[in-house]
Amino acid sequence: MKESDQLTQASPLCRAQGVEKNLHGPGGNLSILRALDLDVAPGEAVAILGASGSGKSTLLGLLAGLDRPSGGEVWLCGQPLSELDEDGRAALREGQVGFVFQNFQLLPTLTARENVLLPLELATGRYPDADARAADALAAVGLQERAGHYPRQLSGGEQQRIALARAFAPAPRILFADEPTGNLDADTGARIIELLLRLRADAGAALVLVTHDPALAERCDRRLHMRDGRLQ
Ligand SMILES: Nc1ncnc2c1ncn2[C@@H]1O[C@H](COP(=O)(O)OP(=O)(O)OP(=O)(O)O)[C@@H](O)[C@H]1O
Ligand SMILES: [Mg+2]
Repeated sequence: MKESDQLTQASPLCRAQGVEKNLHGPGGNLSILRALDLDVAPGEAVAILGASGSGKSTLLGLLAGLDRPSGGEVWLCGQPLSELDEDGRAALREGQVGFVFQNFQLLPTLTARENVLLPLELATGRYPDADARAADALAAVGLQERAGHYPRQLSGGEQQRIALARAFAPAPRILFADEPTGNLDADTGARIIELLLRLRADAGAALVLVTHDPALAERCDRRLHMRDGRLQ
């Protein structure tokens, strides 16, 4: 067993301690996150709720190592992120960490299928079954018929489902999703909620979900509210 695996078993999958984020806006300095603490256990589903502008997306980016805190430390899969450079953080995320952006961030020059395939192909050699995985992920979000569409040829909700398929196709240990049902009608949203929970049940993935959707928050193990830059 690798040392990093032992670390992971002994500690939360994701931990934030004393995390601060200060941003410089046109009106001066903003303190977005203040001495924020959070632990996410393997296989746990956590909902993060809070008013618009309270810092939820900022927090999700820090937890996943997409952005760096102004202070404090984040551990992901047992690794302190401050000790890794951008390439190191990207390597850590590969295959282990899925992320669904609030604005999807699909690559416009790739089809839906190619967007889902990309993280599988970038993880060289790790997914010999990449084509089948991508097809399964597209089917799971009900979009196999749209596989050849480019993002501009997809509705907002369809783009969101492709972004979700891209995030879970590699079977990550932890999936971060920013309002994953935000653009969906009630029926499609309900299907996506079942899909996320199945991912957890089948693959033991932890879920960290920013959401305004009471139906989704209700199905999580814990609901945390962002207030004054902290989680309550
Ligand atoms: N690059 C930036 N520079 C300055 N301020 C920023 C920057 N990015 C975000 N902010 C500010 O940080 C605050 C938190 O933004 P964030 O996107 O994390 O909020 P949120 O809780 O996800 O909101 P929403 O529910 O509307 O998505 C906002 O007030 C926003 O204006
Ligand atoms: Mg947001």
